[in-house]
Amino acid sequence: MFESMVAPAKDAILSLMAIVNADTREDIINLTVGVYRDDSGATPVLNAVREAEKRLVMEQETKSYKGLVGDPGFSEYICQLVLGDNISTDKIAMSQTPGGSGALRVLSELIRIDQPDVTLWLSDPTWANHHPLLGSVGLKRKVYPYFDISNQSVRFEDLLASVEEMQAGEVMVLHGCCHNPTGCDLSSEQWTTLADIIASRGVVPLIDLAYHGLGDGLEADVAGVRCVAAKVPVAMISVSCSKNFGVYRDRVGCAIVTTPAARMAQIITAQLGAIARTLYSMPPDHGASVIKMILGDDELRSNWINELISMQSRVQRLRVSLAASLVRQSGDSSWDFIVRQKGMFSLIGTSDHGIEQLRDDHAVYLVGGGRINIAGLRDQQIDRLAAALIAVS
Ligand SMILES: Cc1ncc(COP(=O)(O)O)c(C=O)c1O
Repeated sequence: MFESMVAPAKDAILSLMAIVNADTREDIINLTVGVYRDDSGATPVLNAVREAEKRLVMEQETKSYKGLVGDPGFSEYICQLVLGDNISTDKIAMSQTPGGSGALRVLSELIRIDQPDVTLWLSDPTWANHHPLLGSVGLKRKVYPYFDISNQSVRFEDLLASVEEMQAGEVMVLHGCCHNPTGCDLSSEQWTTLADIIASRGVVPLIDLAYHGLGDGLEADVAGVRCVAAKVPVAMISVSCSKNFGVYRDRVGCAIVTTPAARMAQIITAQLGAIARTLYSMPPDHGASVIKMILGDDELRSNWINELISMQSRVQRLRVSLAASLVRQSGDSSWDFIVRQKGMFSLIGTSDHGIEQLRDDHAVYLVGGGRINIAGLRDQQIDRLAAALIAVS
């Protein structure tokens, strides 16, 4: 057994991590993997998380199994955070999952059980793991145009033309906010137009929400999700708590399906549990229990919101400083797009050769295709990064 097995293709972003870690040069600028870093270069445990963990350790009386869909109390809090306090959860199916990736996987299994021949439409470009992750269940995939790198904006007319090609029942995968890798989001008018069109064509949205709170704030970042969910009978939402709670390794996420009927919601919740049973049986509890505690306690919740605001403001401040330095050093005001974009990423479109030069000559690492993680930058590195980017552009 296994004698003819070959090694799998390496995950491009994760293998870069190992290369960066082996680089011994001083003051490396690491803009690769999508984790938030503070100005000391650390990815801190949030104070609200640390406090909830302490309480959890003291209060927890058992580590017995919780159930296939995890803790429904956790999922209800996440649903409220995403869809609003006034929603009635009886028509919403939900399941706690191992991270946003787990949510994407169980939702794609759910789609396959119901519609094995359906096509998923993904944005071009999209998060590097979307295709392998969603494709692994065997669903057909197509791409719709999303990003015009020449003027760093959404190709909205082309996107709408693609939606006109989608058949009723096909699934359109959207990024709820802070589009990865481009940082380019739909405007609220564009969300409304898109929501109307997909509703009228019977296209089913699957909205990936992995950076909630890191763009324009907790409410603004889900305005598009809420707009779509209000107009279509069924919307799927995959939520990741990795970035906004900083609990990456604890694997916390939630799969949500809004439905027109309580009975349908119950059936889908049961299906989500049955899918979990065949994949990992039950989601890990620790991080979800911590987040449930934070969201259910006024003081912890407000501490978390303040910490999230400070992460979001730091990223925005770095965007402003980087764009200013680029414009000042190059005399080219078109670098301003960096300020308009949202969340941790921008896709600056550096060529493969430019990426090599950045690595070899400037100790700057970015992901293939030219994605930079703004949140990986430190204040004192801004001018050096700007000079390096100008040198290779
Ligand atoms: C767009 C997008 N969706 C989902 C995820 C998955 O996050 P998690 O670590 O919670 O699985 C990520 C993580 O980078 C992401 O960028």
